[in-house]
Amino acid sequence: MASILVSVVGTITATYMFLYLLLHISQDTKEPPAIVTQIPFLNKYGLPIYTLRLPFSRIYIANDTELLPSIQAQWRAISFSVFTANTGEQLGMTKTSRETMERGLMDPDSFSISWPKYMQPAMVPGEDLDRMNKISIEAIASATKDLSANGTARVGLWQWTHDIIIRSTSKAVWGPQNPFEDEKVEEAWKIFEPGFLTLNIFPFASLLFPQILRARERIATAMVQYMRRDGPKSGSGLVRRLVEHHTRFGLPLEDIARSQIGIGFAVMSNTAPCALWMLYHIFSDERVLEDVRREVAKLVETRTEEGGGVETATNVVDLSALQSSCPVLLSTFQETLRVRTLSPGVRMLLEDAVVDDTYLLKKGNLLMMPAMVHHTSAPIWGPDANLFNHLRFKDNPRLGRTAFRGFGGGHVLCPGRFFARTEIMALAALLLLRFDVMPAGGNGSSLRRRIPRRSRASLFQITISRWSFDLEDQRI
Ligand code: HEM
Ligand SMILES: *[C@@H]1O[C@H](CO)[C@@H](O)[C@H](O)[C@H]1NC(C)=O
Ligand SMILES: *[C@@H]1O[C@H](CO)[C@@H](O)[C@H](O)[C@H]1NC(C)=O
Ligand SMILES: *[C@@H]1O[C@H](CO)[C@@H](O)[C@H](O)[C@H]1NC(C)=O
Repeated sequence: MASILVSVVGTITATYMFLYLLLHISQDTKEPPAIVTQIPFLNKYGLPIYTLRLPFSRIYIANDTELLPSIQAQWRAISFSVFTANTGEQLGMTKTSRETMERGLMDPDSFSISWPKYMQPAMVPGEDLDRMNKISIEAIASATKDLSANGTARVGLWQWTHDIIIRSTSKAVWGPQNPFEDEKVEEAWKIFEPGFLTLNIFPFASLLFPQILRARERIATAMVQYMRRDGPKSGSGLVRRLVEHHTRFGLPLEDIARSQIGIGFAVMSNTAPCALWMLYHIFSDERVLEDVRREVAKLVETRTEEGGGVETATNVVDLSALQSSCPVLLSTFQETLRVRTLSPGVRMLLEDAVVDDTYLLKKGNLLMMPAMVHHTSAPIWGPDANLFNHLRFKDNPRLGRTAFRGFGGGHVLCPGRFFARTEIMALAALLLLRFDVMPAGGNGSSLRRRIPRRSRASLFQITISRWSFDLEDQRI
């Protein structure tokens, strides 16, 4: 017994010594200081960038916002595309397509670097975007109408928000033939969405978690059918551009269909939690609620109509004014992103790179620019950096500049930011106008239909008169 103990302790000690030496011998003096080998009282360091050492790799953490422009300028060597390029296997694509996706990761014309840029025209303010936002808002409006039918509805707020974002977004993206309209596909998505990470992390995950794979195949089958039936033709500009791009690179129909599952993550997986937190911050704080409700209430007009001696009144809200006339709601949205975004900003070093002419980052390692770090920096946001202040961005939507990472930054800037912002603000506005939202004792929320004071109107109508609003906030 004792000898086993000795040999175990001996092995551990030897391994420890080996790793310790490995860590220290391989540290270049020009690399950011390593801190993992010390007791991690991180706050005593005050480093602009540091290295977390793992035995055979390291992670650089960019801690000072001032380093970000230099990092972002070197987007070829400090790569984001490498991660999207590697999803082919988890999505079940053929080897040939996977190779296409993984080729030329430092070349702007390569598959994986070019597709996010290729779809951009469909996602910046313009006709394609207007159409998508209109469809998504109509879907949200119809869901809130269903909810108000019974006066009061009890829902799990996350469940409800997640469902509604899946429905409204997928309809806006894929159009009338939207595969997610099929309940079985929606159910499969709810299994595959959280399961995707599992597939990434565990070797043999496909053997260990067959239900995740089954869910994926169900969605894939529906997507293939969508492609065969010419679904993209009546879908969004986004889908059409992506199909066009992938076709040019020679991807077969089946793999283009599978790539759309990946797009599902981009369009739905960030939007749903963001929408939930936005609602949470609005409805859990009286001051926020009062401020934003006052603002959106101004968009409502009561119209009366005579018909057969009966007068009917309708509350009409024009949501195209949402972006231009609701600075507090917009500020609340940005503050929600600032406080809640978990984006780690992970990059892979495809080549050695020198940041700010000072720090050497070595090929093959990871770099992170955690949003949390840059969103809570007191020098940038002030002494209340850790508090939620819904008015923070009211007079300056570009506050914080590079430090605001809610939609990324530099070359990797979220092309979906305009769409997501409008969708979430519209969702919040409709709930604000139509419901009182209250906690329903532990396991849900109660949404009670709201009839505005001073209004005789019993009907509610949503219009979208003019869409191409200006968005001065084109963070680049
Ligand atoms: C509230 C919702 C959303 C949030 C918070 C969000 C957030 C982000 C963030 C933080 C990044 C950068 C990641 C990084 O720096 O590592 C990003 C990139 C991206 N987002 Fe979004 N996103 C949202 C919605 C959307 C939507 C609706 C689309 C639909 C087109 C989309 C498509 C993309 C794509 C394609 C990229 C990669 C861009 C590139 O490689 O250049 N996102 N998003
Ligand atoms: C990161 O930056 C903050 C703020 O400047 C600082 O307090 C902290 O010590 C830094 N972290 C490390 C590990 O150096
Ligand atoms: C409204 O009530 C009816 C009857 O109780 C029920 O069938 C229906 O699902 C409810 N609708 C909503 C949106 O809760
Ligand atoms: C809340 O939980 C209780 C017991 O845990 C359950 O009986 C009730 O149906 C739940 N309500 C909702 C709206 O889910």
